[in-house]
Amino acid sequence: MRPTLSQFLDALPATVPSNLKALVLDMAAACRDIGQTVNNSAITGKQGALAQENVQGEVQKELDVIANDMMLEPERWHGRVAAVASEEMDTLHPIADGGEYLLVFDPIDGSSNLDVNGVVGTIFSILDAPKGRAVTEADFLKPGKEQVAAGYTAYGPQTTMMLTLGAGTFAFSIDHDRGEWVLIRDQVAIPESTREFAINMSNHRHWEAPVRRYIDECVAGKDGPRGVDFNMRWLASMVGDIHRILTRGGVFIYPVDQRASGKNGKLRLLYECNPIAMVIEQAGGTATDGHQRILDIAPTALHQRTGVVLGSKEEVARVTQYHG
Ligand code: AHG
Ligand code: MN
Ligand code: MN
Ligand code: MN
Repeated sequence: MRPTLSQFLDALPATVPSNLKALVLDMAAACRDIGQTVNNSAITGKQGALAQENVQGEVQKELDVIANDMMLEPERWHGRVAAVASEEMDTLHPIADGGEYLLVFDPIDGSSNLDVNGVVGTIFSILDAPKGRAVTEADFLKPGKEQVAAGYTAYGPQTTMMLTLGAGTFAFSIDHDRGEWVLIRDQVAIPESTREFAINMSNHRHWEAPVRRYIDECVAGKDGPRGVDFNMRWLASMVGDIHRILTRGGVFIYPVDQRASGKNGKLRLLYECNPIAMVIEQAGGTATDGHQRILDIAPTALHQRTGVVLGSKEEVARVTQYHG
């Protein structure tokens, strides 16, 4: 019988704080609730866009806001979370005085997929809260290497959570017969090499030279300098593309580009790139911004963006090498 998430957490070393284990269970419960809301959205008619934008200047989907609001319910976190921040809120939102942790999250990642039944997910990052004082926005601006736990839940054919607490990456799925999250992959390991890349090709003309060179070589296949053919996948949902890479390898690239809107990249450091980079590294992959390790970047703003190149070691190294 597969161990449940709760049994997995109980079996972790005593050095893992019991409140962190309990917070992971609370996070799993929140994802389960969000997943059910997403699954029902065609019936409840909650798939539309709102006539409002988030701090990113993106039109918000109803479910972006509904999922965000579900995460703000204080009773979910049992006093363990001092404050949260997310893609959908301008600044932090206090939850419980004295909470030991900060939570920063992307409530629905890939939300353009909602009305077409594509994979979407929730991405979460857990940091230590300051002790003995009120939380400020600066407390969230920690390099990703200071995350104490991170992960995502993909709402796809299965509802699967990918989780790391800094000692490997593990996958859990909801067993609907048992009504439990159960372990499905122990110590996920990304293949070091791959012949599959993920990028939004429609931005090709805007990329900087190193990315154009790398992708053009992949597209040239066995007739080009790589001497082998490559395949391409792009789900427009980071969680979906990353889940594939954690399953069979691959390289995911959302680079900065030469447009004003793209000069810092599209993906957000604190609640997309940092948690995903931790999961990827703990599974033996690498994650850079084309130059430096994502997890070493010192954030200066809650919603800052970064270029990202992550996945199978060999290909990330090549793209990073091309950047010089
Ligand atoms: P979100 O739905 O949280 O705003 O994130 C969407 C992100 C990411 O999930 C995905 O990889 C990327 O946007 C897709 O961007 P394009 O639509 O430009 O391809
Ligand atoms: Mn968005
Ligand atoms: Mn996102
Ligand atoms: Mn989102």
